[in-house]
Amino acid sequence: MPTAGWWEALWPDPAAVLALAGLKHGTDVIDLCSGDGWFTLQIAKIANRVIAIDIDSALLEVARHRLTEGGITNCEFIAGDAYQLGMLTSRSADFVFMANAFHGVPDRPRLASAVRAALKPKGLFAIVNWHQRPREETTILGEPRGPRTDLRLSPKQTVSDVESGNLKLLQLVEIPPYHYGAIFQRQ
Ligand SMILES: C[S@@+](CC[C@H](N)C(=O)[O-])C[C@H]1O[C@@H](n2cnc3c(N)ncnc32)[C@H](O)[C@@H]1O
Repeated sequence: MPTAGWWEALWPDPAAVLALAGLKHGTDVIDLCSGDGWFTLQIAKIANRVIAIDIDSALLEVARHRLTEGGITNCEFIAGDAYQLGMLTSRSADFVFMANAFHGVPDRPRLASAVRAALKPKGLFAIVNWHQRPREETTILGEPRGPRTDLRLSPKQTVSDVESGNLKLLQLVEIPPYHYGAIFQRQ
């Protein structure tokens, strides 16, 4: 998880990113690999209910603190591995959001299958990824930021991996300056 400062500079308006990703009011959402809750807080303001899942319980505690400070009461925090999504949640979701984490998943079709199983019919899986640009070019506050160049995924690779998990691409969106969103639907 990045240190504070440049993350906020990169994502000054997380609610706008969520709107681009297709988040709708009143839905049941899973924020997968939620980190310190920068997006979770905004999701909770829009959603009916949110489950924030991350493998790092210390980051979940930061998220819990952030949401408590924000007066949020509709979010549950679960420490666990994203592959085990089905065992971590008992209710299916309308929308699974995964930002800045898909590139780090070793078996992406497996993860996509786990997400599919956690979605309601017609539910959405929205991935926000760094564009496949050299890391030296993605500067924030004067420094190169983001994952190593060789870890970054093209939209084509992302679509192929997720569709292997039996979800269908609905839309690709640009999220300036350095990201794109890929939105998939359970048929
Ligand atoms: C770069 S952070 C992104 C956090 C958040 N989504 C955001 O964009 O602000 C990546 C997160 O993925 C989590 N993560 C990595 N592997 C995971 C796994 N196997 N299961 C669940 N979370 C994982 C890390 O702990 C970290 O919080």
